[in-house]
Amino acid sequence: VVLVLDFGSQYTQLIARRVRELGVYSVSLSGDSEQGKIEAVHPTVIILSGGPNSVHEATSPTLPRSFFAWTAEKRIPVLGVCYGMQLIVQVLGGEVKQAAEQEYGRMPIRPVKGSHLYGTDVVDEEVVWMSHGDEAVRLPEGFEVIAKSSGGTIVGIEAPKRHLYGLQYHPEVTHSERGLATLRRFVFDIGDCTADWKMQDVMEEEIKAIHAAVGPDDHAICALSGGVDSTVAATLVHRALGDRLHCCFVDNGLLRYKEQERVMATFEKDLHLPVTCVDASERFLSKLAGVTDPEKKRKIIGGEFIAVFDEFALEIQKKYGKLPSILVQGTLYPDVIESCPPPGSDKKHSHTIKSHHNVGGLPKDLKFKLVEPLKWLFKDEVRAMGKLLDVPVGFLRRHPFPGPGLAVRVLGDVTAGDALQVLREVDEVFINAIRDAGLYDQIWQAFAVFLPIRSVGVQGDKRTHTHVVALRAITSQDGMTADWFQFEPKFLASVSAKICNTVASVNRVVYDITSKPPATVEWE
Ligand code: XMP
Repeated sequence: VVLVLDFGSQYTQLIARRVRELGVYSVSLSGDSEQGKIEAVHPTVIILSGGPNSVHEATSPTLPRSFFAWTAEKRIPVLGVCYGMQLIVQVLGGEVKQAAEQEYGRMPIRPVKGSHLYGTDVVDEEVVWMSHGDEAVRLPEGFEVIAKSSGGTIVGIEAPKRHLYGLQYHPEVTHSERGLATLRRFVFDIGDCTADWKMQDVMEEEIKAIHAAVGPDDHAICALSGGVDSTVAATLVHRALGDRLHCCFVDNGLLRYKEQERVMATFEKDLHLPVTCVDASERFLSKLAGVTDPEKKRKIIGGEFIAVFDEFALEIQKKYGKLPSILVQGTLYPDVIESCPPPGSDKKHSHTIKSHHNVGGLPKDLKFKLVEPLKWLFKDEVRAMGKLLDVPVGFLRRHPFPGPGLAVRVLGDVTAGDALQVLREVDEVFINAIRDAGLYDQIWQAFAVFLPIRSVGVQGDKRTHTHVVALRAITSQDGMTADWFQFEPKFLASVSAKICNTVASVNRVVYDITSKPPATVEWE
């Protein structure tokens, strides 16, 4: 087992993911867990994550007192990343100082050839992703410098006899060119781990965990959104619970063009899931009328979803004589990280980006016990699990769609004028054009956004003063970082013309060329 001790960085869970990509099982615990809890995991190697704090602050998270004595005695290799490296240096008697110049973003470094951590397969200069305000200026006994930044900062250290290693940068993010190679060396060459972790094992473990969480007479309900996540979650839970699972598909009035008919056909014909279609569009839209704040919209939608579930649950109670006690959700790892601090981490040390309705927006008096079998997985891992569960491949390739639906794609008041209708039509033209061009599978997510402004145009020799829509298409590995997709200009020109010609009230189309960060994927 690779244990990741979490000190609150946005990237922490990516470490666990990278390790799994290497085929090794990994778990994470809060960085300030007690020694006994850490030992109980019986880790083969330990990685200390980064974090937003400075080791100089009294309130910053730190390791248990006996941690390094224990890892030395058991010869457990420890790799500190960013804040994790600074902790190693400070706790063991070196010195960490606030850097004169903080280093953020892409940065070239020079690794030492032949060090234990880098091995001999090194390049003179590699680009890494740096993000730090403090730096190590004096190393504890037995440590050597194995990499420096172009500005001379110590960015890699090791004390092989003490089984300790440190990197000031983030090897886990894809922007660090050889980061995965360095993690691979740490996990296999230094840590002696074996690559024997498989998706089949994860699936079987999850089924066992569902059995453990759900009593033999309990019934579960699951809201299907039509997306990959909730569908895979439901199919998995269906395997575990059979007809004690009851799914509902809520039409919240915020769905894409013909979405209800299309997904219901898939659920029933292809997946044989027990699904009830609940048309709740009027109640959602009346609650959203006039609301323009994105967080408020998410909270209203989250609250209304729960109200609909309550009613659906009552229907189940009437039918089976027992109220369902379990709510199944297709929450993924990135949702968890961006909605709230990672599980087990100290709330003080993370930052909220968005309240995703299925995590942060749930009311405190939730009447159901949550079962989130995909909570530890990233999107592509969920697709791999879906394949094992015989979910049709075409369905698994569907682009992600946010829980609050078109509400986060109509900027401002969702109910204003014909916004939803226009957005649906534009989105359908855009997605069909992408499919026709054979680009759908190269794109992580593509959609249209309705802007709450009007622009002047000239259509059919007449002045128009109508809607502006934005198109967004991105490539991404996991939704956490993203690049905008570079369509051929010809493609954009033809989509723009088609939209203005077929959607009556649109006279201008713009294309979003912003990556994440600094933007997010959705506009709200
Ligand atoms: P952002 O906009 O946060 O999007 O960069 C990252 C991914 O998450 C989806 N997303 C959501 N999914 N509820 C969801 O279930 C939400 O409130 C939500 N907001 C964004 C988004 O579509 C993208 O795939």
